[in-house]
Amino acid sequence: MIRQELFLLFLCMLILGIETSCDETSASIVKDGNEILSNIILSQDVLHRQFGGVVPEIACRAHLESVISVINNAVVDAKAQLAEIDAIAVVNTPGLIGALLIGVTSAKTLCMALDIPLIAINHLHSHIYANNLEHGDIQYPTVSLVVSGGHTTLFLSESETKHIPLGGTIDDAAGEAFDKVSKILGLGYPGGPVIDKLARQGNRSAIAFPRSYLEKDSLDFSFSGLKTAVLYYYRGQDANVSQSKPLSNQEIADIAASFQEAVIDVLVDKTVQASHRYNVQGILVGGGVAANSRLRQRLKEKSEETGIPVYYPSARLCTDNAAMVAGLAYKKYLEGNSADLTLEAIP
Ligand code: KG4
Ligand code: ZN
Repeated sequence: MIRQELFLLFLCMLILGIETSCDETSASIVKDGNEILSNIILSQDVLHRQFGGVVPEIACRAHLESVISVINNAVVDAKAQLAEIDAIAVVNTPGLIGALLIGVTSAKTLCMALDIPLIAINHLHSHIYANNLEHGDIQYPTVSLVVSGGHTTLFLSESETKHIPLGGTIDDAAGEAFDKVSKILGLGYPGGPVIDKLARQGNRSAIAFPRSYLEKDSLDFSFSGLKTAVLYYYRGQDANVSQSKPLSNQEIADIAASFQEAVIDVLVDKTVQASHRYNVQGILVGGGVAANSRLRQRLKEKSEETGIPVYYPSARLCTDNAAMVAGLAYKKYLEGNSADLTLEAIP
């Protein structure tokens, strides 16, 4: 407690963040919740590419092999010493159980050895906080959309640390749909960036793929029907033309653009609907899919139309990283919210 009061007095606190919830091993040191001194991100994309998605067992082993060197690199990159770290933050939920356990166990061990506090972080909340690392002027409440490979969730955010879920996907996450459609089209993994790029050459009105809005006023999402529609369209087209020639590059680009537009229509409509319903001061977007150029453009247009500011992080802070974990931990710590060594990983 004395320690916490001293930090409050001098407001200079170095937090080491650790993120291993999915397929990035990341460690970062952030000062006072907003100054990123280092942010090491080791992606496992190359290990999972041949499978078209994340293989939990492979992810877990890769975290185990690299977590210590990633943490060391974060300390060196920040020109700091381990002894200068004031607290350690770790994502303990949600994520792949084996992957989370590597981060949680590393964090607990370091906290015990250094005798410093441990702060537990929710992965989705940290994606939202990525905005606070780069935008100082956010007013609350906000509607916050976390859109990634594992999640598509809308929150009502009352502060940097208080997030009330409003809706989420009932089947595939939006990023998962990008990855699966990319696999169908033979474009590789991860699918989001490649579809984003290819879609710029395609006609987004070429194919009328379905938009799933579920029940009226629902803030839940569903993308598995859309993914199946793309699969059937692709197979049908392929079968029709296979006697003569395979689908042209332009036809593939048209499928990518039409699919992407169907995902984004629903994401934008539901986010704007929620922002009106809860009369918020802003919209925050985070997660890997928040890097999508068309989503950013559409939300910017909506912001100009409605006057509600929309924030999204720079591309590097959209995908999984530990800077957003260490940053959010500072706010939680100031609220007296720390964990102890009984902390569990929750998948
Ligand atoms: O947040 P993230 O790094 O990991 C999870 O927590 O899931 O998100 C990864 C997801 C992948 O599905 C990837 O295809 C998607 O984000 N993604 C994108 C883009 N960049 C990454 N999706 C659409 N457009 C992008 N530019
Ligand atoms: Zn994520």
